[in-house]
Amino acid sequence: MKIVPLSNSEGLASKVSTKLGIPLERITRRRFADGELYVKLEEPIDDAIIIGNTYPDSSIIELILTEDAINNAGGKRKILVVPYYGYARQDAMFQQYEAVSAKALASIYKSLFEKIFVVNIHSPEGLSYLGEKGKEIRSEVEIGKQIRIDGNDIVVSPDDGFSQEAGIISQVAGIPSSSLNKKRVSDTKVLIEFPEDLDVNGKRVALVDDLISTGGTILEASKLLKSKGAAKVNVYCIHGLFISGTSKYSGYVDKIVTTDTVEGPFSSITVSGLIAQELKEYLK
Ligand code: R5P
Repeated sequence: MKIVPLSNSEGLASKVSTKLGIPLERITRRRFADGELYVKLEEPIDDAIIIGNTYPDSSIIELILTEDAINNAGGKRKILVVPYYGYARQDAMFQQYEAVSAKALASIYKSLFEKIFVVNIHSPEGLSYLGEKGKEIRSEVEIGKQIRIDGNDIVVSPDDGFSQEAGIISQVAGIPSSSLNKKRVSDTKVLIEFPEDLDVNGKRVALVDDLISTGGTILEASKLLKSKGAAKVNVYCIHGLFISGTSKYSGYVDKIVTTDTVEGPFSSITVSGLIAQELKEYLK
C-alpha cells in the first residue's frame, strides 16, 4: 500500500505517511503546451490512498488522472481522503434547474473509490451524497486544543450554522461559547448582528468558523467584536482558502490559525493524526 498525494496536499500526505509508516508514491506531473495536465506514477502500486483536495477545479482533473494512473500502474484497492472537499456548498437546488455540485461530483468519486474520507464537509447533505462510502473526519477537538493553549476567554461563531461545532470546540477549550447572527446578502457581503446578551468587553475572543473563503464573514465579525470592546480577536478556522488575501484583517484580527486541510502560512494545526487514526481503523 502507498499514499499518493495530490499536489495541493503534499505536506499533509507526508505527515500521514510518517504516522502510518506507509510510503509515499513518487509522481511526475507536468503541463502540456496547451496547459493540460500530465500525470505519471514512477513505481508500480497495488493498494493506494490518495490524499488531496477537490479544490480548486484543476484539482478535480488531477484527482481523476491520478486515479487512472494508479489503475495503469497495477492499482487494486483505492481509498480517497479529501482534506478540503470543494464544491460542497451547493448541496441542494436553491432555484429551479440548478446543478447540485455536491451531488454531481460525489457520484464521480463514488464510482472511482471504495471509501471516501472527508475532513469537516460543509453540510450533512453534502456527505449524504457519498452514501455508505463517505465518512467525515471531524477536527473540532484539534481546534479546541489550540484555543486552550493560546489562552482565550470565549468561543464565538459568526452564525448558528457553526454553533454546534463551536460548542464542541469550547468544551475542549474549557471556556464558554456564543454565536453572532449572520445574514448573507451576496457571495461577498454579509450582515452580522450582535446578540443583546453577549458581553465580550475586555475578553480574548476565539472567533471560529469552518471556512474562510472571501473572508467577508470573519472581517465583519471581527470588526463587530472589536467595536464591542474585545481585547483580542483570534481567528480559528478549519479550511482557510483566503481567496482575497489577509491584509484586510489588519487592526481587527490579532491572530489567524487554520488546520492544514488547506496548506498555507496559517495552517499550523495538523489534521494528519486524525486522518492517520481513521485510516488505521479502516484498514485493520
Ligand atoms: C458559511 O456557511 C460558512 O460557515 C462560512 O462562514 C462561509 O463560507 C465563509 O465565507 P466567506 O469567507 O466568503 O465569508
